[in-house]
Amino acid sequence: MKISVIGCGYLGVVHAACMTELGHEVIGIDVDSDRIALLAAGTPPFFEPGLAELLSRSMQTGRLRFSTDISEVSGSEVHFVAVGTPQLAGSDAADLRFVRAAVDSLLPQLAAGDLVVGKSTVPVGTARGLADVITAHGSGATLAWNPEFLREGFAVKDTLAPDRLVYGLDPGDGRGEGTLDAVYARALAGGTPKVVTDFATAELVKVAANAFLATKISFINAMAEVAEATGADVTQLADAIGYDARIGRRFLNAGLGFGGGCLPKDIRGFMARAKELGVDQALTFLGEVDQINNRRRERMVDLAKEVVGGSLAGKRIAVLGLAFKPDSDDVRDSPALDVTLRLIESGATVRATDPQAVETARRRFPDVDYVASAADAAEGADAVLLLTEWREYRDLDPAAFGEVVGTTAILDGRNCLDPVAWRSAGWSYRALGRP
Ligand code: UDX
Repeated sequence: MKISVIGCGYLGVVHAACMTELGHEVIGIDVDSDRIALLAAGTPPFFEPGLAELLSRSMQTGRLRFSTDISEVSGSEVHFVAVGTPQLAGSDAADLRFVRAAVDSLLPQLAAGDLVVGKSTVPVGTARGLADVITAHGSGATLAWNPEFLREGFAVKDTLAPDRLVYGLDPGDGRGEGTLDAVYARALAGGTPKVVTDFATAELVKVAANAFLATKISFINAMAEVAEATGADVTQLADAIGYDARIGRRFLNAGLGFGGGCLPKDIRGFMARAKELGVDQALTFLGEVDQINNRRRERMVDLAKEVVGGSLAGKRIAVLGLAFKPDSDDVRDSPALDVTLRLIESGATVRATDPQAVETARRRFPDVDYVASAADAAEGADAVLLLTEWREYRDLDPAAFGEVVGTTAILDGRNCLDPVAWRSAGWSYRALGRP
């Protein structure tokens, strides 16, 4: 099939390359000419495991191109809209201007039978409005809403083999369903479940899923607060409740909490939309979820203060991890980066490192002292803070690492180290929610 993907961010680039891998002919469009130049040369504009290989393989087929020229989408029968919906400045609501601009720019290119497919995360009700715009234009194209659930770090796998497909369609739009079935033929043949529904449900599925995941993380972090007040161990608590299949152990890792380009802004956007709909009470708890999440960052800084003797002023702190999660260079709303900035504000001398996110962090905060490795960060430090659970930090040898620091004190912000091993190597080990 001939497919266009509008928006070449995390979602769009991965989607475009994966659609090519599935055998389709794909054109990726973005307004950012630097980004398009990189992509046209086969270089991913961000770090995502497996993407560089996939992109180069896809480019070699000759079936994947990138352009800033929207007119190049004409002739495509499916047009995915994969632009960002960031949080509006000064508000909790989502900024829809990129989605609207993408659809407006598509309108003159559409032909009868084309399917525009929304992938961006939008407030419920958006798709209906966009479908009306497309219908009013009179090309004979239609709209489907097909939310995306990919996780950074697993984006390629999640796109090629999603755990479910959701199609939001106008009632009776069998043609739209058939087109999406053809796009996703391989996943469907492999048994991926499909939910065919209306626009509003499809839009809600996405934000409901993210709200649930955020709630699960904040639930265990609330338990961590209680554990801290009682001497209990939140990681053992998570293991024990996680054995109940109704609860499940996944997404019950207590620590610094959630960040990234999705969970934080999506729960806020969801609350803002609920307020507009007059059902804000239904989602008041998400405000609590957000607050629990932010309190973990404060707690981490307080713990660091405690460990270095009451004040961070003049103390040398090593920060391991800047990305919002491992296997990503994304620092959007990163708890690790936030804690780093708070430490600096409190007067600490911070040296920070990350296997992939130093350059993305530097672009936002050029004045932080970034270094290349954990050993560089830790040299002479009064305390080490592990803030993103990259494998290379989880695998640090406490004995060897102890040789480079000033004081063998580690704060495990992600509950990912073995306290017994670190303590027996002579370290003072502290963590969130653990004695
Ligand atoms: C999320 C959703 O998982 C995905 O389905 C959606 O499409 C986009 O948003 P992503 O932002 O890539 O994906 O990251 P995710 O793996 O969900 O992690 C989000 C944050 O929660 C990270 O900061 C992570 O460190 C944190 N987290 C996750 C925890 O603190 N504890 C956990 O147990 C799990």
